[in-house]
Amino acid sequence: MLRKFDPMGFPLSYQVGILGFSGLTAYAGLFEIGKPKKGEKVFVSAASGSVGHLVGQYAKLFGCYVVGSAGSKEKVTLLKDKLGFDDAFNYKEETDLKAALKRYFPDGIDIYFDNVGAEMQEAAIANMNTYGRVAVCGVISEYTDGKKRAAPEMLDVIYKRIKFQGFLAADHLNLYQDFISTTCNHLRSGAIYPLEDISDGVESIPSAFTGLFQGGNIGKKAIDANGVAKVVVSANPEFKRDDLVVGLISWGEYELVKGGAMIRRLEPMGFPLSYHVGILAILKEKLGFDDAFNYKEETDLKATLKRYFPDGIDVYFDNVGGEMLEAAVANMNLFGRVAACGVISECADASKRAVPNMIDIVYKRIKIQGFLSTDHFDLHQDFISMTCDALRAGKIQPLEDISNGVDSIPSAFTGFFRGDNIGKKFVRIAGFYSSLP
Ligand SMILES: NC(=O)c1ccc[n+]([C@@H]2O[C@H](COP(=O)([O-])OP(=O)(O)OC[C@H]3O[C@@H](n4cnc5c(N)ncnc54)[C@H](OP(=O)(O)O)[C@@H]3O)[C@@H](O)[C@H]2O)c1
Repeated sequence: MLRKFDPMGFPLSYQVGILGFSGLTAYAGLFEIGKPKKGEKVFVSAASGSVGHLVGQYAKLFGCYVVGSAGSKEKVTLLKDKLGFDDAFNYKEETDLKAALKRYFPDGIDIYFDNVGAEMQEAAIANMNTYGRVAVCGVISEYTDGKKRAAPEMLDVIYKRIKFQGFLAADHLNLYQDFISTTCNHLRSGAIYPLEDISDGVESIPSAFTGLFQGGNIGKKAIDANGVAKVVVSANPEFKRDDLVVGLISWGEYELVKGGAMIRRLEPMGFPLSYHVGILAILKEKLGFDDAFNYKEETDLKATLKRYFPDGIDVYFDNVGGEMLEAAVANMNLFGRVAACGVISECADASKRAVPNMIDIVYKRIKIQGFLSTDHFDLHQDFISMTCDALRAGKIQPLEDISNGVDSIPSAFTGFFRGDNIGKKFVRIAGFYSSLP
């Protein structure tokens, strides 16, 4: 955990701030996850924090338009006047964050660097442009208030093909040399300005720590006695949420505490009776799925998915959204991917919005990406030839469910939301052969 470093003529505190994990987090999140293009519009929350103030400055230096949010008038002035943000606002003075972002980004947001989660994330997603990217770095507003979970509009994620990805800086050490040389050059030329907020002595640790959650700090909070952290999420009974720990974990560095959720008890895989009836028999016996379950018979979807995926889920193809998306995110492996295809459970009942656990998304570096098939015509030839081969060889079984006549259209349509159809639903308006003379 210890590394030697060369201060390169900079103050020692830079090693735990701009030239340490805060800097790498800002650099990796913006350039690897956000993938900015010149002229794009970037929004950063907790923009005066140790990560946020650097994200904004890197994005400006790269040629983007940058707006930040922070929790006081002084911080807003600092962002605009000293750090060169194009604009900034005090989120505590706004009653409608969606409308506020619309005001600051009338043409939409291309990249949202999310440090806070909750309502700000929902508001940013509502204002994102097509193909927008959300780099989910942290969800500080959710750490102290578990009820404040973000429920992003998944229809926006899909229709706008938004990429939504959690990340940890520690996975991007391959960028370290680039990051250090770019940042040192910017520091030497005065193009970047690191904010630091230094408290002295061990006695200052509790107030320094709680200050982070009250917006007390500006920039990197460096504490001269290293290695104090608060457990934000833990499956290890020895470490409970909100415990303070001292040791090798320091603010800005994270460790997954192994045990609990990581140790998986093997459960006997007894098949529910419903496997043998109806659609489940089709999925298992006719279509060769390894397993299948009737979600309507399950009272706890998280536990259900845990039973079916004791070693976790790598890819979730989401057609329904709502609680199933939450349960899938809770059961995903590190670097899991969610292809957000549709949210039928949310279309029929808007109160059923998914509230996925953002802490899972960050720590497990989960990528959620909305998509529309019409953007992928480049795959058409491959798709057709592979599918035709599989059809001819009888290796793929298309399911079709055909109703007859115009009169059946309304019931066919409402039937989607009741789950009446099996496979592709067609309404036959007129028989092909009967229309021939
Ligand atoms: N993924 C990674 O690898 C990685 C690495 C480092 C940090 N992080 C995460 O990134 C985020 C920012 O870290 P940081 O080091 O920049 O933070 P920081 O310097 O500790 O700053 C925290 C700031 O967040 C703001 N804040 C606190 N509670 C808030 C709330 N309820 N709503 C909105 N803003 C709130 C406060 O400023 P205001 O006055 O603006 O409210 C506070 O000063 C955190 O969520 C952290 O967990 C992730």
